[in-house]
Amino acid sequence: MHTWLRCTTRVVALSITAATLLTTIAATQARVASPDGRNQVTVEIHDGGLYYSLNRDTHPLFLPSRLGMAFRNAPPLLDSLRITDTTRSTHDETWTQPWGEVARVRDHHNELRVSVVETASPGRRFTVAFRVFDDGVGFRYEFPEQPGLGEFAITDELTEFTLEDDARAWWIPSNRPRLDRSEMLFSESPVSVLDSVQTPLTLETRDGRTFVVIHEANLVDYARMFLAGPRMQSRTLRVALAPYADGTKVYGRTPFVTPWRTIQLADRATELAPSVLGLNLNPPSVVPNTSWIKPMKYVGIWWGMHIGTMTWSSGPKHGATTANTKRYIDFAAANGLGGVLVEGWNVGWDGDWIQNRNAFSFTKPYPDYDLPELARYAHQKGVKLIVHNETSGGLENYERQMDSAFALYHSLGLDAIKSGYVTDLVGEGHSHYGQYMVRHHRRVIEKAAQYGIMLDVHEPIHDTGERRTYPNMMSREGARGQEYNAWSAEGGNPPEHETILFFTRMLDGPMDFTPGIFDILIERGQSDRGARRPWEPRPRTTLAKQLALYVVLYSPLQMAADLPENYEHQPAFQFIRDVAVDWDTTRVLAGKIGDYVIVARRERNGPSWYVGAITDEEGRTFDIPLSFLSPGRKYVAEIYADGPGANWLTNPLPVAISKGPVDSRSRVHIVLAPGGGQAIRIRPAR
Ligand code: NOJ
Repeated sequence: MHTWLRCTTRVVALSITAATLLTTIAATQARVASPDGRNQVTVEIHDGGLYYSLNRDTHPLFLPSRLGMAFRNAPPLLDSLRITDTTRSTHDETWTQPWGEVARVRDHHNELRVSVVETASPGRRFTVAFRVFDDGVGFRYEFPEQPGLGEFAITDELTEFTLEDDARAWWIPSNRPRLDRSEMLFSESPVSVLDSVQTPLTLETRDGRTFVVIHEANLVDYARMFLAGPRMQSRTLRVALAPYADGTKVYGRTPFVTPWRTIQLADRATELAPSVLGLNLNPPSVVPNTSWIKPMKYVGIWWGMHIGTMTWSSGPKHGATTANTKRYIDFAAANGLGGVLVEGWNVGWDGDWIQNRNAFSFTKPYPDYDLPELARYAHQKGVKLIVHNETSGGLENYERQMDSAFALYHSLGLDAIKSGYVTDLVGEGHSHYGQYMVRHHRRVIEKAAQYGIMLDVHEPIHDTGERRTYPNMMSREGARGQEYNAWSAEGGNPPEHETILFFTRMLDGPMDFTPGIFDILIERGQSDRGARRPWEPRPRTTLAKQLALYVVLYSPLQMAADLPENYEHQPAFQFIRDVAVDWDTTRVLAGKIGDYVIVARRERNGPSWYVGAITDEEGRTFDIPLSFLSPGRKYVAEIYADGPGANWLTNPLPVAISKGPVDSRSRVHIVLAPGGGQAIRIRPAR
């Protein structure tokens, strides 16, 4: 415990007999607890500094942690602070998502607003607002309009998170300027040795009693938050904002609010998902009519480029031809899949498309791609043509064309875009994750909403709950997805990868992971050197695990990523045809970070349930009660299990398909092969 915290406790005891002292304490400390009373936040001034701390039950989780802000050409707002006022309120409301992992979300919190003034000149004022929920805490800074603070440049946000425990952390790094993305593999280590990490950062206290996720919500006009690791082996993580080229973090003018800093809390890993804390800290939808925003499954002229059978660029292997696209549209229509993504349709892919970012046209197709005809053909077949907009980080080039491009798509009835930002630094050398980029993304989201366009963003900034305010912001990448299984130097994602993703990245929002590779050995693919060799990259999963990922890794836009020809004559493809993409209810039935997870979800507006179970490189068995089913109702379970002898390394393909009657008193025995999975559809008996 900090020495000064011990002092405060002693002072409180003495104050019983000292009325004057009591008054002082009332002005230097304020508390607020969650509706269930378990999460307690204390905000206090010590030696002119402002601190917050967080207890869960009676255990300290976050020790007094500093709050403050550093500005260019002004002293930091850190010392000589005094609390001038505190106000409290309670909020309890349940709202409905137009689509999501759950239909109904309860926002029940107690709010404490602490107004603070700087006692020294220039006497700046701000408020820190804390919202304390049963599932965590959000807090943000609010700067009102005032004479001493108008236009400003933030050079650092001085918020700290001082953990009481040297908790285990699952993390990806943030300090690799030439790899300014989120596509690394996760590592696990104690907080005290972390260097510089991205959020969501998932932590487990060493006694296993509490799971903590640090993240942010409602990132609108600010820089993305990273966490800089403890110095000198302490347990203090500090906010580190993604910078502009000149090092500035944020430009603003009062009145101004920061994003919420969020601390999600749970007793068990299985209670972390579905995570709604961030959604509750975003404003309600501003899109008046959301009936056109529809979750869907899709196929795409995509995997072929990644395994080398097609190209984005023009030439003999050009994937985006009219004939090939019609083939994909026919396939989608025949199998009840809602969309067809086409990459490489637009001029700009020839040569080094990452360097030549300004060569991309977002309206001009290659001559062998008849855009109006394909829009017509897709429409006639009841399929959506998903337009690809790779920008390579050429934001100015994209923004210049955005109006005409979106107007063109709208006029052709095309209402979904997959965009991409393959680059490290953007503009004149700004961080991929800084305010410059945040502002760009917001402009795109707003413009897309205006033209009635749904978005799936690759190389995005992490999700901070934008989808509540703009439900057309549907899915994004922002982690290492399936594509790494086509070409990554490490030979593909390790079998544990998705069992970590579920408890980390997936807690911020949907991910376009692109599951569903059936040709696990990529026999149809070819590398530049010719035939693919056994040690070259490929999914390190069984085929059944590819099916389970449809349930485990949530996305309202869910791809059937393989080549259509690889789904032909495959009975297991029936699961992809059937599985829902929009959910009423989500329950995590079992899980251990990095080892396994089993998720059950009930489809939106329907009675069927889907279960996905995945494991890491170890085979495992589970006995799962189906008590989540409606009592008294008869169901049929259609089971897609790892077949005899299945093993991700030696024998990934066998799938055993079976079916049988079940009800809410049944149990299913789930056997997962090493690197395996199981997918179950539970539909009402006819
Ligand atoms: C990276 C994206 O993640 C991938 O899906 C896309 O095919 C390429 N960029 C090209 O835009």
